Amino acid sequence: MIYLNGKFMPIEEAFIPVLDRGFIFGDGVYEVIPVYSRKPFRLTEHLMRLQHSLDGIRLKNPFSNEEWRNILEQVITNNDGEDQYIYLHITRGVAKRDHAFPANVPPTVFIMSNPLLQPSEELLKNGASAVTANDNRWVRCDVKAISLLPNILLRQLAVDVQALETILIRNGFLTEGSASNIFIVKNKMLLAPPKSNLMLPGITYDVVLELAAANQIPHEIREIYETEIRIADEILLTSSTKEIMPITLLDNKPVGDGKPGEFFRQLHALYQEYKTTHMRGHTTARLTS
Ligand code: PDD
Repeated sequence: MIYLNGKFMPIEEAFIPVLDRGFIFGDGVYEVIPVYSRKPFRLTEHLMRLQHSLDGIRLKNPFSNEEWRNILEQVITNNDGEDQYIYLHITRGVAKRDHAFPANVPPTVFIMSNPLLQPSEELLKNGASAVTANDNRWVRCDVKAISLLPNILLRQLAVDVQALETILIRNGFLTEGSASNIFIVKNKMLLAPPKSNLMLPGITYDVVLELAAANQIPHEIREIYETEIRIADEILLTSSTKEIMPITLLDNKPVGDGKPGEFFRQLHALYQEYKTTHMRGHTTARLTS
């Protein structure tokens, strides 16, 4: 059952007019929120990021956080599975085609939920492969915009060679993946690129850094040179749907010894433990003060 503009219905019955600005211009923003044991994970943070994206495209938030919570609770209840991922999408509504914002048009709000599957044992044991590419996206990558054409084209470069992800480089520095954030490990130090307009501030990225801080895992947030990615001991990928994954092959060359490393193992275990805490209901638990 999906949610469309105030109503719940089977997805087959959901339609939007062809003049929706999401369809015509890609004029909208979205969120992907993981749900564990029927509880949305880090919901406050996802709603804050949604607000940031809406502000970025100058679209008024149609709901208060309390209203979002209620709607999302109904979406979760109306769908099967303890673990789900919610896709939430807001566009600037339906109007005659004109680049300028339409006046007094209600936004289109669409929400669906799908089962959240854990990464396969095989992937966690052996790691995944990635390729690198030039980050040719716009310069507001901090806005989670539905217009994902550059991300799609970049991701397809990986798919074309049976790799999982494309790691993006802008002006010689690591930004992120086409649909994930990227960390590297070098000299027993976890390195993360700093948040900026050139990457999406990942919710999983934040959790990983909080786990590192709370568990005395050496880490540093700083610009990462492309050359450093190529000599990294480990590369880690994070996202709401993939959690934490090891990248063990980059542009067809092994990363470190070609196997998932110690930092991955430790952070993956801590992440699973943290999820369990969340599932027990301590949704407001924070790892750092
Ligand atoms: N994408 N960077 C980009 C470009 C992303 O699209 C995503 C997530 C992330 C990771 O953010 P988070 O940890 O909050 O999921 C980083 C989602 C999952 C998607 O588009 O399906």
